[in-house]
Amino acid sequence: MDWTLLILLVVPTVVHGNPTVTVRTGSGPPVGSDQHPNSVPLSEETQTTTEVREVVVEEVMMTGVLNPSHYPARRAATVVQHYLNTRYGSPYRWIFLSKVHSGSAEDVAEMRKYQLELTMQEIISNVSGQCSAELLFPGGEGQSAPQVQASCEGLLQSNTTAQEEAFYQQHRASNNMVSGNDIPDSYGHMEPNMKPFWHLGGVASSFIMLKESNESTLYNMAQVANFTQLETEKDQLRVNYHVLLHEMISQEIIHWKLLVTWSPEQGVQVLQTELQPKCHNCEAPPNTTN
Ligand SMILES: *[C@@H]1O[C@H](CO)[C@@H](O)[C@H](O)[C@H]1NC(C)=O
Ligand SMILES: *[C@@H]1O[C@H](CO)[C@@H](O)[C@H](O)[C@H]1NC(C)=O
Ligand SMILES: *[C@@H]1O[C@H](CO)[C@@H](O)[C@H](O)[C@H]1NC(C)=O
Ligand SMILES: *[C@@H]1O[C@H](CO)[C@@H](O)[C@H](O)[C@H]1NC(C)=O
Repeated sequence: MDWTLLILLVVPTVVHGNPTVTVRTGSGPPVGSDQHPNSVPLSEETQTTTEVREVVVEEVMMTGVLNPSHYPARRAATVVQHYLNTRYGSPYRWIFLSKVHSGSAEDVAEMRKYQLELTMQEIISNVSGQCSAELLFPGGEGQSAPQVQASCEGLLQSNTTAQEEAFYQQHRASNNMVSGNDIPDSYGHMEPNMKPFWHLGGVASSFIMLKESNESTLYNMAQVANFTQLETEKDQLRVNYHVLLHEMISQEIIHWKLLVTWSPEQGVQVLQTELQPKCHNCEAPPNTTN
């Protein structure tokens, strides 16, 4: 058995004169339509220089039976969430981790293999289901996506055919392109007609988050900064998204641009992804870093 001492140092950054992004961290599915735990309040205020340092020392067991409420199990379970969204997500189907029941991990040929029993929740219909999942995190150099297998019961019960078809028919004709920004806004609100685009942005973000995840990350979509619908091509709705992902371990907000297509027949596909530079306005002047 193999124990690792994990030390997280949380130091809120202090920014003068720039809009700062603060994030209410929270996991689990958004509850209700107004208060989303993964919403990002954006504040224009300049933060004062009061600096809070918080040191979290957590002793984490990396292999063997895992504590369901500790990070290793939750991180792996969140990867399963992203995987399920890439498989089954739509503007009317968005899956979140509800509960980790049990988990274990073992080292297998330079990889770490997780076995998990989970409750997942589809938050639009509020249907939940039990899932058994197996995950492999490739070891070694270079980032390659975790491999996931999952089987779930009851999760896909909701019949979204009618809603999806109506949304598709409403938006496939290119005479009324939709766009939007700040979804949800600083207060966690959004217009009802923006919701399917928010869900689609969240599902599309899971394609990135699945690929980018490793054993040390915990990704969450924080906000759709903006989206622009493009002309429908080959019967696929096409939408450009600029999304803000929150990596909860490093507390980084990461910007990605995505070209997403969707139709009821073909499902969600992410055709292009582009990681945006870390910081647009606060590049360090030359020669000030060592
Ligand atoms: C969603 O379902 C759960 C049980 O699966 C229930 O506890 C919860 O109240 C429901 N939430 C809403 C908003 O209906
Ligand atoms: C879902 O509902 C549609 C009609 O809205 C129906 O045609 C279809 O057969 C239903 N699918 C399932 C799996 O129940
Ligand atoms: C996990 O991903 C993060 C962010 O991309 C990266 O900084 C880190 O080195 C990766 N860790 C491992 C063990 O691959
Ligand atoms: C979308 O949001 C990003 C991040 O806030 C911004 O840099 C970009 O200019 C916006 N794009 C559009 C088309 O509004």
